[in-house]
Amino acid sequence: MIQIENLSVQYGGVVALDALNLSITHDVVGLIGPNGAGKTTLTNAFSGFAPITGGQIVIEGMNLLDLPPHKRARWGLSRSFQKVQIVDDLSVQDHMLAVLEAKGTPRKDRATAVDHVLAYVGLSAHRDTKGEDLNPYQKRMTEIAKCLVTHPKIVLLDEPGGGLSEAEMQDLRRIITDTKGTFGAQIIMVDHDVDLIRDVCTSTAVLDFGKLIAFGPTHDVLQDEAVKTAYLGR
Ligand SMILES: Nc1ncnc2c1ncn2[C@@H]1O[C@H](COP(=O)(O)OP(=O)(O)O)[C@@H](O)[C@H]1O
Ligand SMILES: [Mg+2]
Repeated sequence: MIQIENLSVQYGGVVALDALNLSITHDVVGLIGPNGAGKTTLTNAFSGFAPITGGQIVIEGMNLLDLPPHKRARWGLSRSFQKVQIVDDLSVQDHMLAVLEAKGTPRKDRATAVDHVLAYVGLSAHRDTKGEDLNPYQKRMTEIAKCLVTHPKIVLLDEPGGGLSEAEMQDLRRIITDTKGTFGAQIIMVDHDVDLIRDVCTSTAVLDFGKLIAFGPTHDVLQDEAVKTAYLGR
């Protein structure tokens, strides 16, 4: 259970999150809302890169915000970025090993973790391919592999479906849906693609101007009149 309590973030005069309250229990939770609603800000608040002015994020009885960012990763939080963070001259495997090194995973356990996750995301044949030679889908999968290789408790995905073809989206759906069963990780996922959200998210939260305007089973939320008005443009 993740409890977001009265969480506020302000960038100068801009209130990006406005005393947000949200309790998350489902395995894959969607986060949607119009541009500028505060979705990325919320993922940044989790990982330690947002100017928080109040509130807390309580997980397992601990306020996550009390931990410095690098300790949050060690504790079991991982995230992917809206813009993939792939280095041109590092191989797929090197990216994953760097994450394991940063987390302090024992050296002897690293190869097994890398093999398992490469197979899971379908990149086993590309373990030695350098970042500059990966196509956009392979970069996206490398980004997700970096998230999963540490066997995190919580994974934050910021627009993982951006720019993927329909066939690639099919693979992404499988990877997201099977993550809880395979790795035991809970996923919080931001995306614009309502079809993707509908297919993979058990529940969905909707932000608008830094406030929660709806939360519940995804199907119900997408039917909600306030959501349609704010987000789906009706
Ligand atoms: N680094 C920043 N500096 C100033 N304002 C920011 C910054 N990041 C986000 N904002 C503002 O905070 C609000 C929420 O942004 P964001 O979380 O990126 O929205 P979303 O991801 O839902 O599109 C917007 O008004 C945005 O302009
Ligand atoms: Mg965003």
